[in-house]
Amino acid sequence: MSVEASTDGGSAIDRKRIASLTEGQMASFRERTGCSAELFRRASKVMPNGVPSSFQANDPWPVYIERGDGSRVWDVDGSEYTDFHNGFGVMCIGHANPEVGAAVKDRVDQGTHFAAPTEGSIAVAEELQRRFGLPQWRFTNSGTESTMDAVHLARGATGRDTVLKIEGSYHGHHDAVMVSVYPPLEALGERDDPISVPYGAGYPRAITELTRSVPFNDAEALESVLGEIGDEVAGLIMEPAMMNINIIPPREGYLERVRELTAEHGVKLIFDEVKTGATISAGGATQRFGVTPDLITLAKATCGGYPGGAIGMSEELAAIVADGTVHQYGTFNGNPLVMAAAEATLTKVLTEDAYRRLEAANRRLLDGCQGIIEEYGLPAYTEGIGAKGCVIFSPQRMYEYRDYLTKVDDELATLAWLYHMNHGIFMTPGVEEEWTLSIAHSDDDLQRYLEAFAAFARDVTA
Ligand SMILES: Cc1ncc(COP(=O)(O)O)c(C=O)c1O
Repeated sequence: MSVEASTDGGSAIDRKRIASLTEGQMASFRERTGCSAELFRRASKVMPNGVPSSFQANDPWPVYIERGDGSRVWDVDGSEYTDFHNGFGVMCIGHANPEVGAAVKDRVDQGTHFAAPTEGSIAVAEELQRRFGLPQWRFTNSGTESTMDAVHLARGATGRDTVLKIEGSYHGHHDAVMVSVYPPLEALGERDDPISVPYGAGYPRAITELTRSVPFNDAEALESVLGEIGDEVAGLIMEPAMMNINIIPPREGYLERVRELTAEHGVKLIFDEVKTGATISAGGATQRFGVTPDLITLAKATCGGYPGGAIGMSEELAAIVADGTVHQYGTFNGNPLVMAAAEATLTKVLTEDAYRRLEAANRRLLDGCQGIIEEYGLPAYTEGIGAKGCVIFSPQRMYEYRDYLTKVDDELATLAWLYHMNHGIFMTPGVEEEWTLSIAHSDDDLQRYLEAFAAFARDVTA
């Protein structure tokens, strides 16, 4: 038997057992999702992989969703799930939120698009200023656009071309940041001199080489790179807490030191808060960790399920947008429908009290999962902040991407996803993701998650 002991004294994991459980769970997944399979066949004739975005593709096919209400979604086969995927962390307000729905319906009757400013954009910018502390804001239509504009601003302000990013981070799919996103181990190069690896084809080599990566949670490595090439670097773009390789929080003092170093070298610090923004506190990671960057990028949960994003900036950076040095454009930027949804989301639904409740619910779920991990001796631990959390299938804590690559057990993570889906828990596909809670999640919803996870733990260690 292929038995591998976990390094922390937890249960031995029997690989043959994992393979046979995976096969069984996959068979029941196929059986349950026949209508999705049919839609997949139809969709594949008109969309690559049968999906609008490659992130929605999944093995053996995606689960096509019919509708959502509060904490629940229903797929096209009529199965009901409690939703912990929440649209890649967008739906903190819960599905079909009545308050946001009313604001949008009201706006629909007054016209939905003018490409001229409406008062709604002022109200949202004022609220973002209040929450995040940066004085000036502009709007975009997605996280990708927000980080693209932020990079333009950093380059425009400094006259420098090089961009620094964190190894293993995803910031959207524009050229400057599609570098060293999920590079394989053999392509990484030395930790103190990593190779810039393009994430797929379609990006000019010259552009890829202008982006360099540094490890997360290592201020000394950043200091050394800035010591060498600091006067060529326009900006450092980073998630203050990494959320695309499960969740990796910053070490104590790391963000403060990053702020000092970037300021010393005249490098613009960009906090990509597309994931953390409206989910881990009112003022996102910026407020939570108490470090203020030069630029903040937002999208996802900020606009309550509508396709919008925002960029916050210092007065100095706002001046170069205002005088036309850097062009920040977009036909749909500040679209009234999106602004109505964002205003209702930020001022009526995601209140301080909502954040307190999300935090408390997340703590209950994390503690429950940790209890199950310990009861069954799983080689795993829990991590979470605000509305977001996950079980990380690694016996040791992770601090950076190289830990994720070498420590996370993909087979266990994939099997856990199948168990959740087959037990009525709609979970984000992919080993690297996390759950996002909404204000609609009840204790019963959390209990349902814990029961599915306990069934997985029991069967895996039986
Ligand atoms: C941290 C981060 N930045 C940017 C993006 C890109 O956002 P979008 O998919 O809205 O373009 C994502 C998407 O997952 C993200 O996680």
